[in-house]
This record gives sequence, structure tokens and C-alpha cells, in this order.
Amino acid sequence: MKEQLDPNNLPKHIAVIMDGNGRWAKQQGFVDRIFGHRNALKAVKEAIEGSADLGVKYLTLYAFSTENWNRPKAEVDALMMLLISALKDELEDMKKNNVRLDTIGAIDTLPESSQRVLRNAIEETKDNTGITVILALSYSGKWDIVKTAKKLAEQVKNGELAIEDIDEQLFEQSLDTKGIPNPDLMIRTGGDHRISNFLLWQLAYSELYIFEELFWPDFRREHLFEAILDYQDRERRFGKTSEQIKKPVNA
Ligand code: IPE
Ligand code: IPE
Ligand code: MG
Repeated sequence: MKEQLDPNNLPKHIAVIMDGNGRWAKQQGFVDRIFGHRNALKAVKEAIEGSADLGVKYLTLYAFSTENWNRPKAEVDALMMLLISALKDELEDMKKNNVRLDTIGAIDTLPESSQRVLRNAIEETKDNTGITVILALSYSGKWDIVKTAKKLAEQVKNGELAIEDIDEQLFEQSLDTKGIPNPDLMIRTGGDHRISNFLLWQLAYSELYIFEELFWPDFRREHLFEAILDYQDRERRFGKTSEQIKKPVNA
């Protein structure tokens, strides 16, 4: 399927809601949802390698939402442990494969041990020039927007910023995703048709692709190619008419 893709029309940034680990575990006959999380790493690697292979520049993975803190403590603890072991196990490969790691979200709310491993992986990969993999951890779109509003309000209060100077561009540059282009394509596994408080601002004009039957642990690079192939068939109009999009200049 990779051969069918148009190399000149690749998404620069792909965002993924990696959903369905719990249901996957159940499907396999396991009572413990954690079994699903443990089997999610292979899918993460496939998504990263498949994207890097094509030349996608940014891949944002929704790994833990603000709301996920409300899950049973044993599951939250297991997810935090898995994050640490995965980062430790994969660091050498990330370095070798020129992968740069970054995060978005309230990282200071994670356990200190997770923060330490994350800081180290970010530092060790900061000069890599291949794909940037952004882990969304303790992240939610509403959190990102409220934090930004507070920051700008503070600047206005201190006389560093005039209200008239607040525009979409400035606001965007204060979000956690500053400097990163908005996702062209958002993929969700697990069949649910919702955003689940992911990148609310940034997904304004993203193309959405949902896997109805596929749970995240079964995600492979062929699925990524399938989603990109579908993306390449879309007409992104950004509010304009189809005729305007087809005209080459100044339509
Ligand atoms: C996604 O899978 C992983 C996280 C949210 C951390 P789920 O754990 O949500 O699995 P389902 O959706 O309950 O099957
Ligand atoms: C979204 O999945 C969050 C992540 C994949 C990290 P959820 O399983 O938490 O989403 P809801 O609760 O079904 O909306
Ligand atoms: Mg879920």
C-alpha cells in the first residue's frame, strides 16, 4: 500500500488517539485491562517507524488524558510504570533512528520518576533531525486553552501585552504545541467518533480518520498507510468552495 501513496501530499503532522486497549484485552480473554496497555507498545513503534519512513515530520500520540486520572489507581499506576519502562527500553532505538521526543501536557503532575525519565529522553534526543514524536501526557485541549488564557491575562495585567494584540496567531503561539504545525490528519482507533478533549484548538481543520473495528494494540504501519491514502483523497477546502480550491492562483 505504501507504493500507492503520493509522496508530495503527505501530512506534515499526524495526531493519534490510541484507543481500545482495554477492549482488546477483554477480546483476548483477559480480565485485566492492563494487559492491553502492555501490548500497545508494538503499535506505538509501528506508528512511529511507519511515519518516519514516509517522511512525516510530527506525530502526536495521545497517551494519557487529564480525565484518565479518574481511572482506578491500579490502572493509572500501571500506565505510569509502562511509560517509564517503554522510554527506557526505546531510548537507544530512538537515538539510532534520529527520533526527537517531546511532550505536551501537565508534565509536572506526573510522578517524579516519570518526569525524570522523560526529561532525560527529551534531552538525549533533542538534536535529532528526523521525526518529532510528541507524547500527550496529562493533556487535554481545555487545559491547554485555559492555561494559555491565564498566561495572556497575566501579561496584560503586567502591562506586557495589549488586549488588541491578542489574536489567533499569538494565542496559538502560547499553546503547548507552539512552533508545531496543526495536525493535517487525526486518527482514532477503537471506533468511537469523538475528540475526547484532545487537541481542541489544533484540530480545527484536521482531517479525521476513524478505525471502526481496530483496537490500538492491533495497529500496524499498513493501517497508517490506509489512513494516509484516504487523507490524500480528501479535498481540504478551509471554508472555501471546491471551485476556488481547484483554481491555481488568486481565485
Ligand atoms: C486507550 O485505551 C489507552 C488510554 C486511554 C490510556 P483504553 O484504556 O481507553 O481502552 P478502552 O477504550 O477502554 O478499550
Ligand atoms: C482518549 O481515550 C484518551 C487517550 C487515548 C489517552 P479515552 O478512552 O480516555 O476516551 P473516552 O473516555 O472513551 O472518551
Ligand atoms: Mg478508551
